[in-house]
Amino acid sequence: MLDGYHLMIPGPVELHPEVLAEMSRPVVPHYGEDWTAYYNETLDLLRVIFGTDGDVYPIPGSGSAALEAAMGSCLGEGRRLLVLSNGFFGERLASIGLSIDPYTVVRRIPISEPIGTDELTEALEQEPGITAVAVVHSESSSGLLNPVSELAEICRKRGVLFLVDAISSLGGVEIPMDAWGIDICVCASQKCLEGPPGLGLVAVAREAWPRIEGTKARGWYLNLHVWREYAEIWADWHPFPVTLAVPVFRGLRRGIERVLEEGLSQRIERHHQSAHALREHLSELGFAPVFPESMASPTVVAAHGRADVSADEVVDRLKAEHRILVARGMGEFKGAAFRIGNMGLQAMPETTDSLVRAIRCVVGMDSC
Ligand SMILES: Cc1ncc(COP(=O)(O)O)c(C=O)c1O
Repeated sequence: MLDGYHLMIPGPVELHPEVLAEMSRPVVPHYGEDWTAYYNETLDLLRVIFGTDGDVYPIPGSGSAALEAAMGSCLGEGRRLLVLSNGFFGERLASIGLSIDPYTVVRRIPISEPIGTDELTEALEQEPGITAVAVVHSESSSGLLNPVSELAEICRKRGVLFLVDAISSLGGVEIPMDAWGIDICVCASQKCLEGPPGLGLVAVAREAWPRIEGTKARGWYLNLHVWREYAEIWADWHPFPVTLAVPVFRGLRRGIERVLEEGLSQRIERHHQSAHALREHLSELGFAPVFPESMASPTVVAAHGRADVSADEVVDRLKAEHRILVARGMGEFKGAAFRIGNMGLQAMPETTDSLVRAIRCVVGMDSC
């Protein structure tokens, strides 16, 4: 049975009724004067959330499609990518990078550590000809937050492009791309932006374009050079190359309006407070958070199982007895930790309280 569960997984998230209502409107054409105005307004709202005055491309597909478009569009002859990975989604970046260019350099950092500036500096010094670096901001597989502003600073000083996977952070964690010097930032519709799954979002800073122009990016669909070209040549009626997923786009539009109605900084603070409260509760119940607060992502809270109640048992019993879905650990945390999504509507005191009540029942502290 698919329906009837409360989603506390790290995305996709449950949608607000206003978002669902927006998605159930009749389909309209994805072109013409009215759509183009609506599309451009939506991109302006996304620019505010990304913190950029550059370009934003909403590509029908999942977050990985957007990552592939972003990475593919800055590689080509004479270019070389460095991926710093400390988790499952860092490995995703590595796989995409290697599929585009087999000479992509991958540096692995233990999953229990954030990517450090020393590792980045060392890799750039040891590996000749790196022109772009890619990292994950919030590593959703473990709940670790990488210090992207510090990494961006190093890339900026060395004139190397800096790409960030902010799929599970944008809209819930601070990541102002222009202020931090991020050249390309990738997100997806289904997490902190409170939209449905189905759109990958790529933001490209103004300063980045001159540095990637002329790259012979492969392919057509997942190619930002093609998206940019259509934004110009079809600007007045269809400023993108393909049919947009209209209901998904409209749902996302309502989601991002909700983000901005709340206020980005208030929202970031709410996610922070909610993650903090959740970690405190889990610690009190004997489920040690995987990371201390200084390293932890506010949008994915991961905790170890107890000696008497394993991480997988928490996941299974929340599902069977409380109809709440949380996620299992991934990669090296498989079986050892469980993960709770703290994004959008999940990051509300009443939501975390009811989850904590259910976990208390699971461990037998309350009779339910
Ligand atoms: C940090 C991160 N990167 C990449 C992805 C892949 O996104 P998608 O499954 O939308 O392709 C996810 C999905 O959970 C993610 O959390």
